Amino acid sequence: MEWTSLNDLRESYLQFFADKGCLRHKSYPLIPQGDNSLLLIVAGMAPLKPYFTGQEVPPRKRMTTCQKCIRTGDIENVGKTARHGTFFEMLGNFSFGDYFKEEAIAWAWEYVTEVLKLPKDRLYVTVYQDDDEAEKIWHEKAGVPLDRITRMGKEDNFWEAGVDGPCGPCSEIYFDRGEKYGCGKPTCGVGCDCDRYMEFWNLVFTQFERHEDGTYTPLAQKNIDTGMGLERLAALMQGVDSIFDVDTVKAIRDKICEIAGCEYGKEYKKDVSIRVITDHIRSVTFMAGDGVLPSNEGRGYVMRRLLRRAVRHGKLLGINGLFLKDIVKTVVDCNKCEYNELEEKYDYIVKLLTNEEESFNQTIDRGMKLLDGMIEELDKKGEKVLAGEDCFKLSDTYGFPLDLTREILEEKGLTVDEEGFEKAMQVQRETARAARGDSKYMGADETVFHQIDKEVTTVFTGYDRFEDEGVIDYIATETALVDEAAQGEEVYIVSTSTPFYAESGGQAADTGVIEGDGFKAEVLDVQKVVGGKFAHKVKVTEGKLTRGAKAQFKVNRDQRLNTMRNHSCAHLLQAALRQVLGDHVHQAGQLVDSKRLRFDFSHFSAMTEEEILKVESIVNMWIMSGLDITMQEMPIAEAQKLGAMALFGEKYGETVRVVTMGSSDNAASIEFCGGTHLDNTAKIGLFKIVSESSVASGVRRIEAVTGYSVYELMEENSRRIADTAKILKVNNRSELVNRAQAVMAEIKALEKERDELQAQIASVKAGALAQSAVEVGAFKLITGKLEGTKPDALRKMADDMKANDDSVIVILAGIDGEKANIVCASGKAAVSGGAHSGKIVGKVAAVTGGKGGGRPESAMAGVADKSKIDEALAAAAGIVAEFVG
Ligand code: SER
Repeated sequence: MEWTSLNDLRESYLQFFADKGCLRHKSYPLIPQGDNSLLLIVAGMAPLKPYFTGQEVPPRKRMTTCQKCIRTGDIENVGKTARHGTFFEMLGNFSFGDYFKEEAIAWAWEYVTEVLKLPKDRLYVTVYQDDDEAEKIWHEKAGVPLDRITRMGKEDNFWEAGVDGPCGPCSEIYFDRGEKYGCGKPTCGVGCDCDRYMEFWNLVFTQFERHEDGTYTPLAQKNIDTGMGLERLAALMQGVDSIFDVDTVKAIRDKICEIAGCEYGKEYKKDVSIRVITDHIRSVTFMAGDGVLPSNEGRGYVMRRLLRRAVRHGKLLGINGLFLKDIVKTVVDCNKCEYNELEEKYDYIVKLLTNEEESFNQTIDRGMKLLDGMIEELDKKGEKVLAGEDCFKLSDTYGFPLDLTREILEEKGLTVDEEGFEKAMQVQRETARAARGDSKYMGADETVFHQIDKEVTTVFTGYDRFEDEGVIDYIATETALVDEAAQGEEVYIVSTSTPFYAESGGQAADTGVIEGDGFKAEVLDVQKVVGGKFAHKVKVTEGKLTRGAKAQFKVNRDQRLNTMRNHSCAHLLQAALRQVLGDHVHQAGQLVDSKRLRFDFSHFSAMTEEEILKVESIVNMWIMSGLDITMQEMPIAEAQKLGAMALFGEKYGETVRVVTMGSSDNAASIEFCGGTHLDNTAKIGLFKIVSESSVASGVRRIEAVTGYSVYELMEENSRRIADTAKILKVNNRSELVNRAQAVMAEIKALEKERDELQAQIASVKAGALAQSAVEVGAFKLITGKLEGTKPDALRKMADDMKANDDSVIVILAGIDGEKANIVCASGKAAVSGGAHSGKIVGKVAAVTGGKGGGRPESAMAGVADKSKIDEALAAAAGIVAEFVG
């Protein structure tokens, strides 16, 4: 066999199966679409599940892909061995009720022996224990000797994942790597745990559907699902020991060594770190390219965890500062020939990952502080084990990795309560599982719409019309297909064609009416359901709906036009944002309906006022230029050549719709889009940004309005200005700002005057109170009750009085609305003579049921029962006497 690069191997495989009539399809994104059972795509067949069960019709009955996959089940072992990894590519050929065992086996054998030219005497196969048919084909058609065919049990040769879904017996191909990889035991052979016999291709004869209760039923169609790990195959073809030695992966490994200034294969601990970074950086780069954002839950958490592990191992290698971006470059360079999205989004990917890397560095600094505090506590208590909950809090809440905690503790002769940590983690896992809900393996639960013939799809005719003739082909309640629906009922109508837009791509569904001879139904919502059908949720407002009836489908024109204004404008907005902020800007989500435009995009800081104005002005210039908007269907490759903006992680078909604004050689915007649009930007009218805010790390949100809504906004603002002008008694609006400034200045001056007057009043009051002083021992006691006095003013008055006279003890009660306080201040001589304001005020306030205390010089307490204030003040002399008498 001949050394072949990983990229060439991929090409050779896909071409081989394309020649067998398979539709060659680009890898689906890593984010599963319409499938809640998986966080990330784990196998080539995962994005194709509905085609296996027959829920949806595939674009062709045989397909071939090289699918990006991420599996994190073994994450703890990644790095420790040369075998484990999280990211890999899976080569697959698939049949949906088309070819079956005979072809799948024959072609696999042909590819392995004739294209790859693997020596037959080093190949072995396994079949499922009862699968005589497969054994016969391997032996008779492929010519594999019987002693090289092993039957294995369900454990090894029956492929299924999750609790339900398509599954079946499988057959695997093994390569004998030679004696030196073997364990040497007499029993060593295919299936042995050692490294000698390597399984590299799995052929699954997907003919059953597993149900949640553990039973199996045969699928209506017999399918083929095959999977071969590309990196593993490349290792085999390149004659190397592990995936980390395969050309494209080794390039990343080498780059890491270059940055860290170390050599691979010299020291186990360093090799572990190098392998962790090599693997994890591949995963996070591809995830970023498919629009996954680091977060604290779901796949975002998987990404964050992988990235943090990589950064952490960078530190273990002694790398200082930010280093991921240099490695990302290598990942992209090695993979862009197949995954052009990596190159297109390069700037964005680097920014996103670096941002997260920076914030993790801060996390580490913060975590170090927390951990130092915890260690100090342990020292104080003379303990040696850090509580599991503390470690978990550090790692889960503060993102500070457990291994780092462990290491730092070890240096100080301390340890982690591992059991407690596990326990805390278990609790968290269960909470997460509960939050995820019990989604099914297939993701798509059975609905009433599955009862409709799967060949039935809906053609959308509303790109250029608001009204169309149609037929009420199906009527459904939530649970059953019905033939009729009476006035007042809410049901679903499915038709084979409709001008109603079903909610998708962030564009809201149309509303309107469906009416015909003697009936009328109001369309409340339209959703795409299984198999490309549109379900119109309607309320029957007149007569009776009957299945098969002809009807007029009438979209609410004003609403749709306003929605189109917002949608077309969202395209201009994205283009303007990219001009002003840079090419890292990509749509991260949008919502366009008849009222507003909400656009989420990747960007890493708040926009300045200037940037916002610039974007507004560019968009409005384009609107006023009256650019033509054209829509065209074209093969995806052609659209990519035009540089059309695609959505992150979106699953596109072979042909796509492309929306162009402006002339094609100098367009303002070219985007992949299935939504509805105006035919000219001028019809947008006007555009105004209402707000700019943050939604997640690295994602900003703009809310804006267009067309009539801008007019409404202007009207509202105008009215506000007019009302304000009236209140401020301004006739000429241009004077409004001056007048507002003058009013504010006047208020300020008046406030100053008021403060001065209040101070004067207070001193007069204080003077009057001083007159009523009584003698207690050698000192003077002044008491008083003041209405409408806030605690601060009360304290100041008492303090001023004691400052004027060393031998005075002042006790004042201040009433401030519903609340009341008592303050006590004692002059220097009084304090020396035994007065203690804190204790005195406590006792005085206690008469009202209140509490308080403080320093000897000055203190305050709260009053509980205001009606007892006089009583409390009357008791003051006696209380003071206890201290100074
Ligand atoms: N689904 C099977 C696997 O993942 C074959 O593609 O191994």
